[in-house]
Order: sequence, then C-alpha cells, then structure tokens
Amino acid sequence: MKGVILAGGLGTRMRPLTNVTNKHLLPVYDRPMIFYPLATLVEAGIRDILIVTGGNNAGDFLRLIGNGSAFGLKHVNYTYQKGEGGIAEALGLAEHFADGQRIVVILGDNILERGIGRHVESYQRQKAGAKILLKSVPDPERFGVAVFRGKKVLAIEEKPKRPKSSCIVTGIYLYDAQVFDIIKTIRPSRRGELEITDVNNAYIRRGQMTCDFLSGWWSDCGTFDSLHKASSLVAKQRRAG
Ligand code: DAU
Repeated sequence: MKGVILAGGLGTRMRPLTNVTNKHLLPVYDRPMIFYPLATLVEAGIRDILIVTGGNNAGDFLRLIGNGSAFGLKHVNYTYQKGEGGIAEALGLAEHFADGQRIVVILGDNILERGIGRHVESYQRQKAGAKILLKSVPDPERFGVAVFRGKKVLAIEEKPKRPKSSCIVTGIYLYDAQVFDIIKTIRPSRRGELEITDVNNAYIRRGQMTCDFLSGWWSDCGTFDSLHKASSLVAKQRRAG
C-alpha cells in the first residue's frame, strides 16, 4: 500500500507562527511536526510515500526530509497544492501517484501515541471501500463528528455546532481507487473547501465504509492549544522512555 501525507494549506489559523514558515515545519516538542506522520506511515510498513505540500517554504520540506534516509526510506515523492482548496483537493493531487492502488492518507498535523499497523492490516483484508479511525474527544465541535445508530456510523458532520456524539474522525483515512472519482463529484463547502467529510459520507452512502477506534492518545495541531497539547504529550512520552 502507498502512503500520502497532506501538508498543504496556508496555515492561516496559526499566524504569526506561520508568517515565515509552513505549519508542518513548526516544532512539536523535539521534532518538526511533519516527522510524526511520516514516522507513523513508516512504522506501519509503508515505504512508498507522497508528501503534498503547499503555501510558504515548500522547498524546506525537501531540505528537511530529502529522500527520507533518516526514516530508512530510499525515496520520497513530493507535490504542491496551490492555495488551500481543502483536504480533498490536496488528496486529488495524489491520483497519479496512487496509480490505482489502495492508499493510507494522514494529515500532516496529526500526532499519535501508537502505531496504525493493525488498522492498515485489517483494511487490507477489507474487500473494497474505505476505513476511518475514530477517537472520543472533549471538543468534538472542532472536527468531523460521527453520527451513530447503535454501533453503525450513519454519517459524519463537519464541525457541527451541536455534535451528536463525542466521536470524531481523526486525520487517518484508508481508501481504495474510488476515492479519486468521488473527489471529482464533490463541490466546495461554505468555507470554500473540498471537504474530506463529503468524501467519507459518499463511501458511507455506498455502504463501503468501516470504522475502527484508535487506541492511545491522538492530537491535531490546528490551534495554538492543540499544538501545545501535542508537544506536552510527546514530551511526557519521551520522558517515560
Ligand atoms: O484532524 C482531523 C480533522 O481534520 C477532521 O476531524 C476533520 O473532519 C477534517 O476536516 C480536518 O479538520 P481541520 O479543520 O482540523 O483541518 P485543517 O484545515 O486544519 O487541515 C488539516 C491538515 O490538512 C493540514 O495540516 C494540512 C492538510 N490540508 C488542509 C487544507 C485546508 C491540506 O493539505 N490542504 C488544504 O487545503
């Protein structure tokens, strides 16, 4: 399976930290943010990786990661997203790289305590469709929120004012080749972005979505508070050895 890290967008919510650099190059405790999703993919056995970058200082990703030798890789692929047309737009740029194969996608600001290997393995046994990884959080209104009937996920609502559950969709998505056709059918949301939630809802409507719960802590780094929280969690983990 191939891996895609989405590190595009302009990081506007993180100004002034992102005035002169890219959000994904900011430190999370002792490493640049982008190192974490890259390590998550490599630890899950993914060797063929595309980084979709964008905004300011895209060239610094090359200077920092190069061909990925620090992660035991021989080669890393890069592409560039102009502007911030949304997560699904950034993923659309990976169609040529995916070349009809299944992909595991991770957002460049998602930091995880544990590996995703077992989820990748269970997805490989799945006949077709997609898999998302859920997590219960105290502030679901900031995320894509799962709506349940019993244990079944009926739909996902993006940043609802009144979340129907505390279970959110983390930024790790497993897709088959249908994803690129689905992306071509969706339209920009009210915030002017192609939403990954619309892609996931399309899979749910097709009856081709499975969900796992992520174990261990998880954080995004999309706000000053969550960036600070992610750094503290990593620091604690390092001290614990
Ligand atoms: O972290 C999980 C959440 O990520 C999900 O629960 C939401 O459903 C999903 O929409 C997303 O929400 P955010 O509002 O937190 O996404 P954000 O705009 O902060 O983008 C997260 C990452 O996605 C960002 O670090 C880089 C990548 N991205 C984002 C945009 C808007 C791109 O590559 N290109 C883009 O245009």
